[in-house]
Amino acid sequence: MRFKDQVAIITGAAKGIGRSISLTLVEEGAKVVPVDVDSEALRSLQAEIEKRGGQALPFTCDISKRSAVERMVEQGLKVFGRIDLLVNNAGIIRRGTIETVSEEDWDRVIAINLKGTFNCCKAVVGPMKRQRSGKIVNVSSIAGKSGDITSAPGYGSSKAGADALMKTLARQLAPSGIRVNAVAPHAIETEMSAQWSDEKRREVIAGIPLGRLGRPEDVAEAVLFLASDAASFITGEILDVNGGALMD
Ligand SMILES: NC(=O)c1ccc[n+]([C@@H]2O[C@H](COP(=O)([O-])OP(=O)(O)OC[C@H]3O[C@@H](n4cnc5c(N)ncnc54)[C@H](O)[C@@H]3O)[C@@H](O)[C@H]2O)c1
Repeated sequence: MRFKDQVAIITGAAKGIGRSISLTLVEEGAKVVPVDVDSEALRSLQAEIEKRGGQALPFTCDISKRSAVERMVEQGLKVFGRIDLLVNNAGIIRRGTIETVSEEDWDRVIAINLKGTFNCCKAVVGPMKRQRSGKIVNVSSIAGKSGDITSAPGYGSSKAGADALMKTLARQLAPSGIRVNAVAPHAIETEMSAQWSDEKRREVIAGIPLGRLGRPEDVAEAVLFLASDAASFITGEILDVNGGALMD
């Protein structure tokens, strides 16, 4: 078991990629703090974790609210005593162009995808520094590297911002034994991609050399690799999980 008795916070854990990351971490021995705004889906995840013999402390929290994030981290520390891993996975997407996107949509995407990531990193750094160890893995996106024609401009911007935040923290926290990395998925089968029309789906697959959409487990395995001791000399890295759609 790669994460036996380690404590992991996973944001956006209730569905899609975050759910898969949470369950994979539990299978690998971690105790988890799944965080989400969707309490009902969190309850269903908790039931699944307990069915598998794992331990979870689900926390309903909007990561764009700094005080709520701080309460969540305090609670995790109180119950489990340490924090070994933070997975910044929660994210939202909006569709549109610079002409059609509203200021409210721009603000909300930045507030969750970028500031929410900042809030969570800020809250775990103290405990990780005291432990002199810790790992942070962000779930970014291909859109942060190459831009994207269908998502509203805030989405790729928020992911590029989070990538720069990740690299800054990787530099600043390396002397404290904390590694900070990201994965950059493309076209993973979740509720986010379920909104696509059949035509859009065919078009997306045509652009992927491996000829299929990704699965949440593909992302989970990449996250676990970066968080594991196998990656102990890796920090400040963005690992593509995109079937070859972008080779940079
Ligand atoms: N699905 C894809 O194709 C794809 C591709 C590239 C990157 N990503 C990234 O992967 C991550 C997960 O995406 P997904 O496809 O699993 O999405 P999803 O919509 O299935 O799940 C996202 C989860 O985040 C939660 N969430 C939303 N706002 C929140 C907030 N303010 N606080 C806490 N939780 C919140 C949602 O309730 C949901 O459970 C996102 O950051 C997304 O940008 C997804």
